[in-house]
Amino acid sequence: MISKKMTEDLNKHLNAELYSAYLYWSMSAYASHKGLKGAASWLYLQAQEEVIHVQKFYAYLDSQGARVIMEAVGKPPSEFGSFLELFEGVLAHEQEVTGLVNTLMSKATGEGDHATQTFLQWFVTEQVEEEQNAKDIIDRLKLAGDTGPAIFMIDNELGARTLATTPA
Ligand code: FEO
Repeated sequence: MISKKMTEDLNKHLNAELYSAYLYWSMSAYASHKGLKGAASWLYLQAQEEVIHVQKFYAYLDSQGARVIMEAVGKPPSEFGSFLELFEGVLAHEQEVTGLVNTLMSKATGEGDHATQTFLQWFVTEQVEEEQNAKDIIDRLKLAGDTGPAIFMIDNELGARTLATTPA
Protein backbone atom coordinates (compact mmCIF):
# COMPACT_ATOMS: atom_id res chain seq x y z
CA MET A 1 0.00 0.00 0.00
CA ILE A 2 1.44 3.36 -1.01
CA SER A 3 0.07 6.83 -0.33
CA LYS A 4 -2.10 8.80 -2.73
CA LYS A 5 0.67 11.38 -3.06
CA MET A 6 3.28 8.71 -3.82
CA THR A 7 0.93 7.18 -6.40
CA GLU A 8 0.66 10.57 -8.12
CA ASP A 9 4.41 11.13 -8.00
CA LEU A 10 5.21 7.67 -9.39
CA ASN A 11 2.67 8.13 -12.18
CA LYS A 12 4.26 11.47 -12.98
CA HIS A 13 7.65 9.83 -13.18
CA LEU A 14 6.29 7.04 -15.39
CA ASN A 15 5.32 9.82 -17.78
CA ALA A 16 8.83 11.34 -17.53
CA GLU A 17 10.36 7.98 -18.49
CA LEU A 18 7.97 7.75 -21.43
CA TYR A 19 9.05 11.24 -22.50
CA SER A 20 12.67 10.02 -22.27
CA ALA A 21 11.87 7.26 -24.77
CA TYR A 22 10.14 9.79 -27.01
CA LEU A 23 13.13 12.15 -26.80
CA TYR A 24 15.63 9.40 -27.67
CA TRP A 25 13.54 8.23 -30.61
CA SER A 26 13.56 11.80 -31.85
CA MET A 27 17.34 12.00 -31.35
CA SER A 28 17.77 8.66 -33.12
CA ALA A 29 15.76 9.82 -36.13
CA TYR A 30 17.85 13.02 -36.25
CA ALA A 31 21.13 11.09 -36.08
CA SER A 32 20.01 8.70 -38.80
CA HIS A 33 19.02 11.60 -41.03
CA LYS A 34 22.50 13.11 -40.53
CA GLY A 35 24.17 9.84 -41.58
CA LEU A 36 25.27 8.94 -38.03
CA LYS A 37 23.91 5.42 -38.23
CA GLY A 38 25.84 4.11 -35.21
CA ALA A 39 24.61 6.95 -33.00
CA ALA A 40 21.10 6.41 -34.35
CA SER A 41 21.25 2.75 -33.32
CA TRP A 42 22.65 3.65 -29.86
CA LEU A 43 19.88 6.18 -29.29
CA TYR A 44 17.19 3.79 -30.51
CA LEU A 45 18.38 1.21 -27.96
CA GLN A 46 18.42 3.96 -25.34
CA ALA A 47 14.74 4.61 -26.13
CA GLN A 48 14.02 0.89 -25.72
CA GLU A 49 15.69 0.97 -22.30
CA GLU A 50 13.45 3.87 -21.35
CA VAL A 51 10.39 1.81 -22.29
CA ILE A 52 11.68 -0.88 -19.89
CA HIS A 53 11.89 1.84 -17.21
CA VAL A 54 8.27 2.79 -17.93
CA GLN A 55 7.28 -0.86 -17.56
CA LYS A 56 9.04 -1.06 -14.20
CA PHE A 57 7.01 1.89 -12.86
CA TYR A 58 3.83 0.43 -14.35
CA ALA A 59 4.45 -2.97 -12.75
CA TYR A 60 5.37 -1.45 -9.37
CA LEU A 61 2.27 0.76 -9.21
CA ASP A 62 0.09 -2.16 -10.25
CA SER A 63 1.67 -4.49 -7.69
CA GLN A 64 0.87 -1.93 -4.98
CA GLY A 65 -2.79 -1.90 -6.01
CA ALA A 66 -2.33 1.68 -7.22
CA ARG A 67 -3.95 2.99 -10.38
CA VAL A 68 -1.69 3.62 -13.39
CA ILE A 69 -2.76 6.79 -15.17
CA MET A 70 -1.39 7.43 -18.66
CA GLU A 71 -1.00 11.14 -19.32
CA ALA A 72 -0.13 13.00 -22.55
CA VAL A 73 3.54 12.85 -23.53
CA GLY A 74 5.30 16.13 -24.35
CA LYS A 75 6.63 16.87 -27.83
CA PRO A 76 10.42 16.49 -27.87
CA PRO A 77 12.72 18.73 -29.93
CA SER A 78 13.61 17.54 -33.43
CA GLU A 79 16.91 19.39 -33.99
CA PHE A 80 19.97 18.59 -31.88
CA GLY A 81 22.98 20.29 -33.46
CA SER A 82 26.38 18.60 -33.86
CA PHE A 83 27.31 15.03 -32.90
CA LEU A 84 28.83 16.42 -29.69
CA GLU A 85 25.82 18.64 -28.93
CA LEU A 86 23.52 15.66 -29.47
CA PHE A 87 25.24 13.70 -26.70
CA GLU A 88 25.53 16.75 -24.47
CA GLY A 89 21.74 16.78 -24.79
CA VAL A 90 21.62 13.13 -23.68
CA LEU A 91 23.74 13.90 -20.61
CA ALA A 92 21.68 16.99 -19.70
CA HIS A 93 18.50 14.94 -19.94
CA GLU A 94 19.89 12.12 -17.81
CA GLN A 95 21.05 14.60 -15.17
CA GLU A 96 17.51 15.96 -15.08
CA VAL A 97 16.09 12.45 -14.65
CA THR A 98 18.62 11.76 -11.86
CA GLY A 99 17.25 14.84 -10.08
CA LEU A 100 13.69 13.52 -10.44
CA VAL A 101 14.68 10.08 -9.09
CA ASN A 102 16.50 11.67 -6.15
CA THR A 103 13.44 13.79 -5.34
CA LEU A 104 11.22 10.70 -5.47
CA MET A 105 13.61 8.85 -3.17
CA SER A 106 13.61 11.75 -0.70
CA LYS A 107 9.80 11.75 -0.68
CA ALA A 108 9.67 7.97 -0.15
CA THR A 109 12.16 8.34 2.71
CA GLY A 110 10.14 11.19 4.19
CA GLU A 111 7.00 9.03 4.14
CA GLY A 112 8.81 6.04 5.65
CA ASP A 113 7.78 4.14 2.49
CA HIS A 114 10.41 1.41 2.50
CA ALA A 115 8.93 -0.58 -0.38
CA THR A 116 9.14 2.41 -2.71
CA GLN A 117 12.66 3.19 -1.50
CA THR A 118 13.70 -0.38 -2.38
CA PHE A 119 12.00 -0.08 -5.78
CA LEU A 120 13.71 3.24 -6.51
CA GLN A 121 17.17 2.00 -5.52
CA TRP A 122 17.49 0.25 -8.90
CA PHE A 123 16.91 3.60 -10.63
CA VAL A 124 19.44 5.42 -8.43
CA THR A 125 22.10 2.91 -9.58
CA GLU A 126 20.89 3.01 -13.18
CA GLN A 127 21.17 6.81 -13.34
CA VAL A 128 24.85 6.67 -12.36
CA GLU A 129 25.43 4.33 -15.32
CA GLU A 130 23.29 6.39 -17.70
CA GLU A 131 25.20 9.58 -16.90
CA GLN A 132 28.55 7.80 -17.13
CA ASN A 133 27.71 6.35 -20.56
CA ALA A 134 26.84 9.78 -21.94
CA LYS A 135 29.93 11.38 -20.34
CA ASP A 136 32.22 8.74 -21.88
CA ILE A 137 30.85 9.42 -25.36
CA ILE A 138 31.18 13.20 -24.88
CA ASP A 139 34.80 12.78 -23.73
CA ARG A 140 35.66 10.69 -26.80
CA LEU A 141 33.95 13.18 -29.12
CA LYS A 142 35.89 16.05 -27.55
CA LEU A 143 39.16 14.16 -27.98
CA ALA A 144 38.30 13.40 -31.59
CA GLY A 145 37.52 17.01 -32.46
CA ASP A 146 36.01 17.57 -35.87
CA THR A 147 38.13 15.12 -37.82
CA GLY A 148 36.17 12.88 -40.17
CA PRO A 149 37.93 9.54 -39.54
CA ALA A 150 37.69 9.80 -35.73
CA ILE A 151 34.00 10.72 -35.91
CA PHE A 152 33.42 7.79 -38.24
CA MET A 153 35.19 5.46 -35.79
CA ILE A 154 33.18 6.67 -32.77
CA ASP A 155 29.94 6.37 -34.73
CA ASN A 156 30.88 2.78 -35.60
CA GLU A 157 31.62 2.02 -31.94
CA LEU A 158 28.22 3.36 -30.89
CA GLY A 159 26.61 1.08 -33.45
CA ALA A 160 28.00 -1.95 -31.60
CA ARG A 161 25.82 -1.30 -28.53
CA THR A 162 23.34 -4.04 -27.66
CA LEU A 163 20.29 -3.82 -25.43
CA ALA A 164 21.35 -4.41 -21.82
CA THR A 165 19.44 -7.06 -19.97
CA THR A 166 17.90 -5.66 -16.83
CA PRO A 167 17.02 -7.47 -13.61
CA ALA A 168 13.28 -8.02 -13.10
FE1 FEO B 1 15.12 6.10 -17.55
FE2 FEO B 1 17.53 7.32 -18.93
O1 FEO B 1 16.42 7.33 -17.44
